[in-house]
Amino acid sequence: MDGEASALSGADQDGWAPLTGFKADADSFPQRARLLGEGIIIFRTKNGFRGVERACPHMKATMMEGELTANDSMLRCPLHVFTFRLSDGKGVNCPGFRLRVFEIREDAGQFLARPVS
Ligand code: FES
Repeated sequence: MDGEASALSGADQDGWAPLTGFKADADSFPQRARLLGEGIIIFRTKNGFRGVERACPHMKATMMEGELTANDSMLRCPLHVFTFRLSDGKGVNCPGFRLRVFEIREDAGQFLARPVS
């Protein structure tokens, strides 16, 4: 992403932007948050926080009901059990479907996120 596009979108030159409405120390996950005005859903996994788009790319079920599987490396939609890798969002049992996934990091007490693909 070039610098001009990043500045316009609110993300830095590496694509990171602040998460808002996110409470990392909350007891309950998944949790809703916002990234550049877009609602996303944050899961707490064994490998850290991971964000996903709110609606399943199949038939728009809410991913708030998604279930972490495969040692927290995948997320399964409860409606028709389409399952997506949290590394890149690729559907593993649903060719052609991809879930938007966001990586998350903390910087000086602020949580930032960016799309992984
Ligand atoms: S709506 Fe998610 S698998 Fe069908």
